[in-house]
Amino acid sequence: MANTELKNFLDATWKDYHRVTPDAPKVEALLRGRGEDFVNDHVAYRTFDIPGIRRHDLGAIFEQWGYKMAPGPENELDFPDKKLKANYWMHDDPTMPKVFVSELLLEKCSPELRAWVRSFAEPAARKIGRLQAHHLLESIWEPVKFEDYERFYKESEYAAWTGAIGIRINHFTVLVNSLKTFKTLQELNEFLKSQGFSLNSAGGEIKGTPAELLEQSSTMAKKVDWTFAGGARKPLMGCYYEFARRYEDKATGKLFQGFIPKSADKIFESTFEKK
Ligand code: NI
Repeated sequence: MANTELKNFLDATWKDYHRVTPDAPKVEALLRGRGEDFVNDHVAYRTFDIPGIRRHDLGAIFEQWGYKMAPGPENELDFPDKKLKANYWMHDDPTMPKVFVSELLLEKCSPELRAWVRSFAEPAARKIGRLQAHHLLESIWEPVKFEDYERFYKESEYAAWTGAIGIRINHFTVLVNSLKTFKTLQELNEFLKSQGFSLNSAGGEIKGTPAELLEQSSTMAKKVDWTFAGGARKPLMGCYYEFARRYEDKATGKLFQGFIPKSADKIFESTFEKK
């Protein structure tokens, strides 16, 4: 069983997530209104490959609560186009979400972007010492300048978003298998659209296929007011709520628990500003 500290942390994280994803509590309320009592498939974090705040440093926080890094080569996820690497962690209690952590490889970015990220993230990482759970509920660095957020957004939406928000929750994901009133992800998507939500259609509304054992969809992120350097309140692209339907892996007789990089690659684009 998952411990209370983990549950309290996830509750606080869910509330923090509402600040950037106002659609999430609305979707939750709609589903609860239908009598649904669902579980989360995964929560996702974004970080940089800077010592002290790398993806394994985030994973270590969850390991103290009983999480283990998923085994095998399928847990080493690469997103070459977005210059990311990712891993995920799992809990023995299947009602606890998997924890997916991606990390931007700064050596693959422009010298300007690299210098910008290092300028705020390195001193912050040194100052906090070991990364701890409460560091994931507030930014560990000072607010960045809005001009820098806009400038680097063009090169890496991931870097700009993480710079502005900090190492905070990026998204929660409803496990569609745990819904009782929707049989398929298609049905859920149609319901959400009928309620006025827009879905990310990059690569089709549903990423992945039953043959790949994982289907995913997500809402489109919306702009939220955010505090930048000097207290400036400016619009920032928030985040999205994700939905995942998993299929049985015939080889194991259990639900497939991994991720499909080419689907996740498109899901990452749910925070892209529509031009
Ligand atoms: Ni996800």
